[in-house]
Amino acid sequence: MTDHLKRHISNAWGFATDMTVTRAQGVYVFDDAGRKYMDFTSGHAVCNIGHNHPAVVEAIKEQADRLIHAGSIFYYEPLLRLMESLTSITPPGLDRFFLSNSGAEAVEGAVKLARYHTRRQGIISFTGAFHGRTLGATSLTSSAVKYRARYHPLLPSVYRAFYPYCYRCMLGKHPSTCDIDCLGYLDYLFTHEIAPEEVAAIIIEPVLGEGGYAPAPAAFLERLRCLCTDHGILLIFDEVQSGFGRTCKWFALEHYGVKPDIMTLAKGIASGMPLSAVVSAAELMDGWETGSHGTTFGGNPLSCAASVATVEAIKREGLLEKSDRLASGVMTRLFALKRDCDVVGDVRGLGYMIGVEFVRNGDTPNTGAVARLKSRCLERGLIIIECGTHRNVIRFIPPLVTTVDQMDEALGIFEEEVRKL
Ligand SMILES: Cc1ncc(COP(=O)(O)O)c(C=O)c1O
Repeated sequence: MTDHLKRHISNAWGFATDMTVTRAQGVYVFDDAGRKYMDFTSGHAVCNIGHNHPAVVEAIKEQADRLIHAGSIFYYEPLLRLMESLTSITPPGLDRFFLSNSGAEAVEGAVKLARYHTRRQGIISFTGAFHGRTLGATSLTSSAVKYRARYHPLLPSVYRAFYPYCYRCMLGKHPSTCDIDCLGYLDYLFTHEIAPEEVAAIIIEPVLGEGGYAPAPAAFLERLRCLCTDHGILLIFDEVQSGFGRTCKWFALEHYGVKPDIMTLAKGIASGMPLSAVVSAAELMDGWETGSHGTTFGGNPLSCAASVATVEAIKREGLLEKSDRLASGVMTRLFALKRDCDVVGDVRGLGYMIGVEFVRNGDTPNTGAVARLKSRCLERGLIIIECGTHRNVIRFIPPLVTTVDQMDEALGIFEEEVRKL
């Protein structure tokens, strides 16, 4: 009935489906015709504890009755309670937080903090990375050229190294014979492009998100950590997508045992309320002088209340443990699918951040298969989305609250439709 109004929405703002959703609960969303769908995108990796988790809804309502906005004029209880919640889950020592509204804003803040602290200019990011759409974050993003086209000149002094996306190694290597050779490209950069002592930070997604849902090998991140320490370069982990339970741990870094100097968080942090965070140790954040960075809406009381409720719900319901128990079974089924179907080139992931890469003729990206698969799954009530430079990777992003039966149903639909491709 109101479909004609869609034309007023900027064309640049893409929607993954044409659905108009009127309500959502847990793994389900309901469209304006009353039809129920399973949202295996978790609203773009945001509703990690499901849509409209009752505890989050309650916390928002209660806070709305008391105080909606503070605008950096005064402190407020949900902000202080959130400091307690966040410090209970972040790695020891990473206990200072600057709150803002979106992932891109957190990335901008992290880069500003790194430059401020080191008094250096250079930033290194990785091929295929996605760090957001503001101009600074766009400068660090290279998952697809469309994000950058016609926006040049972007931020200067940004350099690019190879992400260890092993299935499509840029050096043509294979994990069995490679000694993390792509890391060597940093030496090239340091020899030819920028001296390491001019580099403020290296920013990396521990699990490549938009660029293809590909976890970095542990050895890569371990050596990257050493290299940063050796050169006094700050290591930034962008955990905007991989954080807050997405990999069945609070943060993907826990799978690696590697601690960054700065971490960025957003998406799942407040179950759909706008909130993000730059996280660092005291020695960095405490030296960021008051007024050097700031925000009007960041750390909004409603968002903070939603975030506190999110942390509590994950703990109370044991969602990390529960989802972790299911995740290995999901991978087993997807590996079986890969064995049976040539169209599945690779299955990879950490926890509930799973990528299924589709190919034809061996390893050519199969964008068409993914487009067909998405629309057939949607017809059957399962919403999935893709990622990857060639849009040929399905990203499985179920909410942590997905039950065994719901998981079985969703995988059943997915497997049947993949077998029909
Ligand atoms: C790893 C990563 N960083 C940053 C962003 C940007 O977040 P936002 O869209 O909230 O600005 C995203 C969004 O997908 C992301 O996946």
